[in-house]
Amino acid sequence: MIKKIGIDELKPGMYLSGLEKEGAAGVIFFVNNILVDGEGDIRRFIESGYRSAYVDIEEELPAPLPPVPIDEPRSKEPEKTEAVEEAGIIADAQTLTEPPAPPEEEGPAAVDRVDFHEAVKEAKEIRREAQDLVRGFMANVRMGKEIEAGPINESVDRMVGSVFKNQDALASLARLKSFDDYTFAHSVNVSILAIAIGRQMGLDEGSLHDLGVGAILHDIGKMLIPEAILKKPGPLSDAEYAEIKKHPMLGSEILLKTKGISDSSRHVSLHHHERFDGAGYGERISGEEIHVFARVAAVADTYDAMTSNRVYQKALLPEEALKKMYALRGKQFEPSLVERLVKCLGIYPIGTLVELNTGEMSVVRSLNRDHPLQPNVLMVFDKSGSRLPKPFEVDLKDEIGRWVVTSKDPGEFAPEIENLIA
Ligand SMILES: [Fe+2]
Repeated sequence: MIKKIGIDELKPGMYLSGLEKEGAAGVIFFVNNILVDGEGDIRRFIESGYRSAYVDIEEELPAPLPPVPIDEPRSKEPEKTEAVEEAGIIADAQTLTEPPAPPEEEGPAAVDRVDFHEAVKEAKEIRREAQDLVRGFMANVRMGKEIEAGPINESVDRMVGSVFKNQDALASLARLKSFDDYTFAHSVNVSILAIAIGRQMGLDEGSLHDLGVGAILHDIGKMLIPEAILKKPGPLSDAEYAEIKKHPMLGSEILLKTKGISDSSRHVSLHHHERFDGAGYGERISGEEIHVFARVAAVADTYDAMTSNRVYQKALLPEEALKKMYALRGKQFEPSLVERLVKCLGIYPIGTLVELNTGEMSVVRSLNRDHPLQPNVLMVFDKSGSRLPKPFEVDLKDEIGRWVVTSKDPGEFAPEIENLIA
């Protein structure tokens, strides 16, 4: 049972499920409960501005607990733009007062076989090749040619292999995308993130392959939609939106005719705009009627779209996107899959620029999965904002006097982050 308490009621030895700053928009939840280690932890939370805590009190309280109030997200439908359509963002949820459902049973723990910095060199090459491949097959479909499954299968096999070598290498590159062409990078990113979530679920290599193939091809049907609609910068008319909504079915038809594409991969294209609550589009199905690979791809698709800069949309920081997606668990997304995405990426993913309580700025270098607020970072700016002559590494989980306060838009510093991390 999860209970909300004042931060001053938090005690060492309690299991923490979430923290909240002033107002519900400042809520953060953890995928796994975190043990409050000592008074130092509590002091850090207070000094970071957290005012309430969500704790697991299962052993202390005899159930039932009084119901926890749930603030429904605003139901106003946003203007229909291609970006909104693509992300499937139906509700603009700002409130987060719903405690997390317990994660489903865990798959086998992911163990990295290769060090991140070794794996990331190969991952860069794999990602670049995959983007070239997407560029090629998308152009072919637009010209009315068929898709060849062979090179796609080989490319996705390399991605799956990379995720098994090191779960963070490819996924961190999906974050470092400042110079990529969105259309091609997005298909590859969705595939990478879907495979990473699938590995968290404990899927075998064959299933991860089918999931990755479906994800890299999820928007292939858009190549049969007029470019004037796809690239329209302003709001779409109802007729234009109706055209866009055909792309899952068009994609499925293309893949049905393509030799060497499995039925489960095809279902990713067909169902990736369905919502868990049935309010999406495609065949307007819900819950487990939606193919599980499509449920995974929907989470990956929305996260990458939300965190990408577009002509008509500024990218959200990962922390902001994850909060919005958390609020849509059980509505737009299967709850456990959003939690698995957080587990894959952390609250501050690798490559995120973060401000510390000291005023120093650092870049997340690797995750401490049991301490999501205390990643391993590279210090890059001192507290006066001056660039350090040589960045140095600090593991925040071992630090008493430093912790992350918030993440920041890297702005012009983004290209340098790629050099620092990968
Ligand atoms: Fe789509």
